[in-house]
Amino acid sequence: MTVRRANEHLPFGEKRDPRFFGQDILSVKQFDRQDLETIFAVGHEMRGMVERVGTFDLLKGKVLTNLFYEPSTRTSSSFVAAIERLGGSVIQINNVTYSSVSKGESLRDTVRTLESYSDAIVLRHPEQGSAAEAAKAASKPVINAGDGPGEHPTQALLDAYTIVEEMGNLDGLTVTMLGDLKYGRTVHSLARLLTLFDMKVNYVSPESLRMPTELVAEVDDAGIPQIETTDLESVLPETDVLYVTRIQKERFGSETEYDAVKDSYVITNESMSTAKDNMVVMHPLPRVGEIAEEFDADPRAAYFRQMEYGMYVRMALLALVLGRA
Ligand code: NCD
Repeated sequence: MTVRRANEHLPFGEKRDPRFFGQDILSVKQFDRQDLETIFAVGHEMRGMVERVGTFDLLKGKVLTNLFYEPSTRTSSSFVAAIERLGGSVIQINNVTYSSVSKGESLRDTVRTLESYSDAIVLRHPEQGSAAEAAKAASKPVINAGDGPGEHPTQALLDAYTIVEEMGNLDGLTVTMLGDLKYGRTVHSLARLLTLFDMKVNYVSPESLRMPTELVAEVDDAGIPQIETTDLESVLPETDVLYVTRIQKERFGSETEYDAVKDSYVITNESMSTAKDNMVVMHPLPRVGEIAEEFDADPRAAYFRQMEYGMYVRMALLALVLGRA
């Protein structure tokens, strides 16, 4: 019997990193610092290639399914852009009322169907744990693009990549998360991911929308100093990254509950006057009033650059998961 090396007999350009190849991406908990270094390095190469040639055939012949049970602009279209810039193609299902889901098909059956036509499935679904459930049913990789208030791991990866690109590194920074920390899945994933670095984290939210206690405990176990407050002004001057989030209206039980907290914090030129010059304001978007448009012209406003970084990170993830990075 001959023992084959992992990359033997693969076509030119196929390189399989076992940490990523064929793997699901369900939670940021699955990554370590080295994984992030790899993703960011590949993301950086993707950026260079997009700037030089626009599209290239790294994933030619690969088909991605984008299965979205909840609204999405950026996540969905950046995955489409990512696979297409790499020469692959996409099956896009973003209005499940027109698919067999409206006939009562289970998530498991829908996923089994779509994986027989494609090489990986990107899934957004309103229920926490849905991506893990889909991954159990599927034999192809499932990428969690948001499972209700659970996690949004690819967003956290692009957020961390944005911080590195904008601030030069991740260690030694103070990150302040603002807004809906209870239901916001992006901050759940980001807080977990930041535990890999030497960070300080502040959580600023209305009392009723605090970061879940189990998440605070997890971050605490990792030895990361955390402060919880309702007062943005008290932590803004020391903040290197202000991560603003939308109040997640769709997760509230009633309109009255939402109305009570909806305009709790609004970032304006004036409110940012006590912040450092060398800091950034991020937001996963969409915003619905929590950052005034007047602030967009401020060089510290990084949220539009953050979207662009997202495409490079998703290109990197697809290339790694599909085995050609
Ligand atoms: C976020 C999401 O869907 O969780 N959006 C995104 O993916 N960029 C944030 C939000 O909807 O508030």
